[in-house]
Amino acid sequence: MNLIIAANWKMHKNAAETAAFCRELRQEEARFKNTDILICPPFTALWAAREALSGSALKLGAQNMHWEEEGAYTGEVAPSMLVDSGVRYVIIGHSERRHLFGERSDQVGKKIKAALKSGLKPILCVGETGEQRAAKVTEKVLEEQLASALKGVDIEKAEGLVVAYEPVWAIGTGQAASPEDAEEAASFIRQYISAHFGKEEALKLRVQYGGSVNPDNIGAFVTLPSVAGALVGGASLEPGSFIALIKAARKAVLS
Ligand code: PGA
Repeated sequence: MNLIIAANWKMHKNAAETAAFCRELRQEEARFKNTDILICPPFTALWAAREALSGSALKLGAQNMHWEEEGAYTGEVAPSMLVDSGVRYVIIGHSERRHLFGERSDQVGKKIKAALKSGLKPILCVGETGEQRAAKVTEKVLEEQLASALKGVDIEKAEGLVVAYEPVWAIGTGQAASPEDAEEAASFIRQYISAHFGKEEALKLRVQYGGSVNPDNIGAFVTLPSVAGALVGGASLEPGSFIALIKAARKAVLS
């Protein structure tokens, strides 16, 4: 199973910066075999990334989308618009969407189904807050998030579904989860998929860890038995740091 490492740029980079980053990454691309690398720029830079990545195995992702195909939804972007922009993956239910923009679990579920219907591969983000971890309800929170996001999903057709375990308290704080905690949560996610959709589906699922991943700690996450990649924010913004991170991940899994 290929590792999947995604750069979530959030609200950073214009078109020119995006194109320059992609060109630099392409120079190293030949060394990233058996690793799926995704760039998720803001909507406004998707076209620039698409152009700069044309002919490359590096893939394009979006950070959000609406579940409807068209309509009176000011400020929203439809799944088919992403497909039209060359997007293959879409991050859904990121904690910043849930906590800063009030995105509800039922909306996350609609987005997952709409993404799959359009042929986009969703990266479903789940994770507990610091308070929830302290209250020892992490598994309950993950279970609720998985249940509402995957309700009614035909998982056999959900090819390419990725789940990112991102503890909210670890995002952008410089304080990553311990590999033990990440493994416990990722393994719980796999068990949930196995119990509700079957062992085969759980085997196919890739679980990423996200939250203050950097070139120094990525090796400890990608070598965990239940983790197959990372969703990276801050450390993906500079080409040098992102390239170092990919190299460190590959080195760790190959050694
Ligand atoms: P971070 O962000 O790597 O900056 O912690 C991760 C994310 O929000 O996906």
